[in-house]
Amino acid sequence: MTEPIIHATGLTKTYGRGAKKVEAVRGIDLRVRQGQIFGLVGPDGAGKTTTIQMLTGILTPTAGSATVAGIDVVGDSDALGGSIGYMSEGFTLYGSLSVEENLDFFASLYKVPPEEAARRKETLLGFARMESARGRRAEHLSGGMKKKLALACTLIYRPKVLFLDEPTTGVDPVSRQEFWKILYEFLVEGITIFSTTPYMDEAERCHQVALLRRGEVIANESPATLKRTLSGLALDMVAMPQAQALSQLRRMQGVSQVQVFGERLHLLLRDGEDRAEALRAQLGEAGVEVNDFKITNPSLEDVFIASIEDLRASDMPAKPGVPEPEKLLAQFPLPSDLEGFSETPVEHTNGIVVRTEGLTKRFGDFTAVDQVSLGVHKGEIFGFLGPNGSGKTTTIRMLCGLLPPSAGQASVANFDVVKERAAMKPHLGYMSQKFSLYKDLTVDENIRFYGDLYGLPPGRLAQRRNWVLEMAGLKGKEHLLTRDLSGGWKQRLALGCAILHEPQILFLDEPTSGVDPVSRRQFWDLIFALSIQGVTIFVTTHYMDEAEHCHNLGLLYRGRLIAKGSPAKLRSRMKLGSLIEVPVRDPLAALPPLDGLPEIIQTSIFADKLHALVWEVDAGRSAIEAALGSHDLIDGPIKNIPISLGDLFNLFIEMEEEGRKVRQTT
Ligand SMILES: Nc1ncnc2c1ncn2[C@@H]1O[C@H](COP(=O)(O)OP(=O)(O)OP(=O)(O)O)[C@@H](O)[C@H]1O
Ligand SMILES: [Mg+2]
Repeated sequence: MTEPIIHATGLTKTYGRGAKKVEAVRGIDLRVRQGQIFGLVGPDGAGKTTTIQMLTGILTPTAGSATVAGIDVVGDSDALGGSIGYMSEGFTLYGSLSVEENLDFFASLYKVPPEEAARRKETLLGFARMESARGRRAEHLSGGMKKKLALACTLIYRPKVLFLDEPTTGVDPVSRQEFWKILYEFLVEGITIFSTTPYMDEAERCHQVALLRRGEVIANESPATLKRTLSGLALDMVAMPQAQALSQLRRMQGVSQVQVFGERLHLLLRDGEDRAEALRAQLGEAGVEVNDFKITNPSLEDVFIASIEDLRASDMPAKPGVPEPEKLLAQFPLPSDLEGFSETPVEHTNGIVVRTEGLTKRFGDFTAVDQVSLGVHKGEIFGFLGPNGSGKTTTIRMLCGLLPPSAGQASVANFDVVKERAAMKPHLGYMSQKFSLYKDLTVDENIRFYGDLYGLPPGRLAQRRNWVLEMAGLKGKEHLLTRDLSGGWKQRLALGCAILHEPQILFLDEPTSGVDPVSRRQFWDLIFALSIQGVTIFVTTHYMDEAEHCHNLGLLYRGRLIAKGSPAKLRSRMKLGSLIEVPVRDPLAALPPLDGLPEIIQTSIFADKLHALVWEVDAGRSAIEAALGSHDLIDGPIKNIPISLGDLFNLFIEMEEEGRKVRQTT
C-alpha cells in the first residue's frame, strides 16, 4: 500500500501547566489516502482547529509526529507552503479591495498562470453566485458572501492537500451544494481534502470521517461503516397532534433525540426494539395518533449525537461542557407545551411587535432591502430566511435602529425605529451575526459590560448575572477569557448578554452558525422557553431543520420578501416540485448530461447518489432516465424522496426568477 498523504502518529497538543493544563489534542493517529475527502467532526472545543493547525505547521505539537505530502510538519514546516492550501476559520480578506481584486491577489500570490487564473475566477464567482458583486469592496459583503469569497480565494490555486476549517459555516444551502461540486472536481485532479464541518450532511459526503471528542479520535471510518456501528436505534413516525407528541417524547426515558421534519418525526433511541414498541404504546395512551412508524437508517447526525450522549453520561461533571438540559427544562416549561405550537399563531392585529411597511435600504444604486412589509406577533418565533446577501442583516440592523432606512416605515414594540430610536432600544435585544463579545474580557466582564450598557442597577445585575451563568452553563467559568471559550459557550454567553435587560423582542442574526448539533438543540430549547414567556424572536438561520421549528417564516430573495407563512402553510401553497433520488455509477459524470434540462431545477451529489429537484415527477423521471440511461450511468432504482424545506425555498426562488425573466422581457 502506498504511504498515506497525511500521516499523523500520536499527535498531541497541551496548553498551560499544572492545574491549568489543557490537553487539546491527545495522541491522535490519522491516515488519509491521496485523492480522498477526509472529514474531521466533533463537538465544539473537541480539538479540530488545533489538529488542523498542527498539520499545517502553524502550531508545534507537544508530542507526536506527522507528515503531509511527505513533508515533516514539525521539522520542515517552511517547506509545507508549496504543497498545501489552508482556509482557516478566520481567513482574512482585504476589505478595501474588491471581490475580483481579492481573487487576483491570491492567484498571483500562488503564481497561478494568468489565463488559468482568469478561467478559475469565473467558475468560482459562478459557484458563489457572486458575479454581480464582483466590483464590490470585500468589507461591504454580507457575512456569508465574505465566507464564500474566502473559499474562492483558497480554491483558486491547486495545492496537493487542501485544509479547510469549517469552510461552509454561514453559507446558504444552495451555495453549499455548489461548493461540494467544486470539491468533487478537485478530487478528480488528485487533490486531497481535509475538512472540518459542523454540518452532518456534509460529513456524509466524505470518504472517511474521524469523530473527535475531547481531543481523542473515537471513530475513524467511512460514513456507511460509522452508521452501521450505531448502538441506538433510529425511528421515523408521523404523530398527531405533533405538539403533544413532542412534549411526551421529550419526557420519555431512553429518547436521545427528536427532530421535526415537516410532519415527520425522527427519533434516536438509546437501545433496542423493545423500547420502540413501549414508546409507541405510551404515545397511544397519551392520545397521540401514531402512523407510519418505522425503524430507519440512522443518519450521521444520529451517530454524532449518540457519541456525545455517552460522553455526557460517562463524563466527569466537573467539566460542564453543556448545561444540563433537565435543569433548564425544570426552569422553563417545555417548548412543545406552547399552545398551537407549529401552527400559525392566532391572526389578531394587536400584539404585533414588529411591523414594517415598504421598508427599503439602498447603498448607492444597489437596493439591498426592497419594500419589505411584514408583521410579527408577540411571542412568535419568526424565521427570517434567505440566501447569502439577500438583505437579512441589513433589515435587522434597520429594525434595531442601527441603520437608517432609505424608504418605508418600521416599528418595533410600537416605537418608530427612526423617530423613537432611543426610547425603543431598552425594549430590544440584539445578537449580531458575529457575536459581539469582547474576546479579551472574561465571561464575567462581558456580562458586567453589557449590564452597564443597559443601565441595570447593581442588585438587578447580580441577579441577572446569575441567571445568565446558569442558563449558559458557564458556572465555574466566570473568569475564563471569552477568547478561550469554544463555539457553543460563546454563543450562549452572547445570547445571555443580549437578554440581560429582559427585552420583549430579540433579534438573533445566525445565532447557531458553526455550532455543533447538540449545542444547537440546546440553544433552540432556550429560544422556545423565551418565546413561551412572551418574548418575540426574530431569527435568521441557514439550517433548514431550525426553520421547521419557527411559527412563521419569511423568505427574502434579492431584498424582496417572496414568501411568508408557517412551514405548513408554505408547503401547502407550493403545488409544484418533487425530489428524485438516482443511484449512479459515477456521480461527477452524471452531472453534465443533466445540466440545463428544463425539467430539472437543481442537482446535488450525495456519495453515490444524485438528488434532483424537479418541477414535475413523471416528466422529471423520464428526462433523467433519457439523459443518464444512454450513458449507462444509472445504478439501481430511481426513488421519490420527501421534499425538504430547503428544496421548497429553491422552488419559490426559482419561480421568482422565472417571474423576473418574464417581467424583464415584457
Ligand atoms: N455598506 C454597504 N455598501 C454596499 N453594499 C452593502 C453594504 N452593506 C451591505 N451591502 C450589500 O447588501 C446586500 C445584503 O447584505 P446583508 O448583510 O443584509 O445580507 P444577508 O442576507 O444578511 O446575508 P448572509 O446570509 O450572508 O448574512 C449584500 O449584497 C451586501 O453586499
Ligand atoms: Mg447576514
